[in-house]
Amino acid sequence: MAFDRLTFERAENEIKQRRISAENRLNMRIAEVEVKIPEISEINHQLSQTSIELSKLIVKKKDNFKESFEQIKSRNLQGQEMIKKLLTANGYSADYLEPVYTCPICRDKGYINGGRCSCFNKLLTHFAVEKLNSEANMPDCDFEHFSLEYYKGKTDANGIDCYKKMSENLDSCKKYASGFSINSQSLFLLGKTGTGKTHMSLAIAKVVSAKGFTVAYGSLLNYLRIIEKEHFGRANNSETDTLQVLINTDLLILDDLGSEFQTSFYESVLYNILNSRINLGLPTIISSNLTSSELQKNYNDRIISRLFSVFTTLMFVGEDIRQIKRLKDEY
Ligand SMILES: Nc1ncnc2c1ncn2[C@@H]1O[C@H](COP(=O)(O)OP(=O)(O)OP(=O)(O)O)[C@@H](O)[C@H]1O
Ligand SMILES: [Mg+2]
Ligand SMILES: [Zn+2]
Repeated sequence: MAFDRLTFERAENEIKQRRISAENRLNMRIAEVEVKIPEISEINHQLSQTSIELSKLIVKKKDNFKESFEQIKSRNLQGQEMIKKLLTANGYSADYLEPVYTCPICRDKGYINGGRCSCFNKLLTHFAVEKLNSEANMPDCDFEHFSLEYYKGKTDANGIDCYKKMSENLDSCKKYASGFSINSQSLFLLGKTGTGKTHMSLAIAKVVSAKGFTVAYGSLLNYLRIIEKEHFGRANNSETDTLQVLINTDLLILDDLGSEFQTSFYESVLYNILNSRINLGLPTIISSNLTSSELQKNYNDRIISRLFSVFTTLMFVGEDIRQIKRLKDEY
């Protein structure tokens, strides 16, 4: 999975910062404990002597290497045990002098077994998504600015009470956002233009990002164009692989399905994204102002069947709020 240089450097720096702060935290704890419990200071001193002995032993490789090695090891373990006992006797937890890493797997090195650790990949995806998101910008699209007033007294063509329906949608989207996890369900927001689908999905994005999840939000068309450019124009491996980023982000919001031209490349990319995320069990939110029959006409069965079986559909109803707002501005 490729990333551009800047994204890579940001992730690398973050890992380095994590490692440094874990070391700093540990050093402060050592200093604190050594003042309060001088015996520990003495043992630590002895332990550092044993590690010097050990390196000398390895360099010299004497005949009794194994025996001496075991001796040093056992002294070392005894020392560690003594420290733990002293810590608990003085009211500390036994692991108080163990370093606390953000990622215990790689101990904040970013690499493990010669490859990138999952924490590093997560950071790379996070910074790549941040860069992608910086192009999408819709201020005030949050739950606080989502008003139900626009739907009051309106009934849609099927006789549905718009206010009631949209109150339910708002309620379930708020719950979805506040209870979000990477095992959350996928949502399909369907409804006519201007009924608040994009506004609602950005409101979810804000809450979920604030909880620390990586959320990519953008128009499907824009994403497809980026992926197309990368796919056909790539000469080297130093560019971000946006397709992989979209597949791996905690939450993906694909806005405006149906606004793109139908090409077999786009359709295969869309299928690839949906199918991979479904297989990874990761949630996706898709919005569209097409009707279900238009969707069925425009997309192949592999996509349609996934959208209608895996996704929970929320119907958005009401008048075109974009137009209502515009008229209000004009008069
Ligand atoms: N319930 C709402 N309260 C306040 N503003 C709203 C509400 N719903 C939508 N808006 C505003 O109306 C405009 C259009 O809404 P939005 O873009 O969410 O519609 P949409 O359903 O995504 O339409 P389209 O299908 O054309 O993409 C936006 O400026 C949005 O902030
Ligand atoms: Mg929209
Ligand atoms: Zn790690």
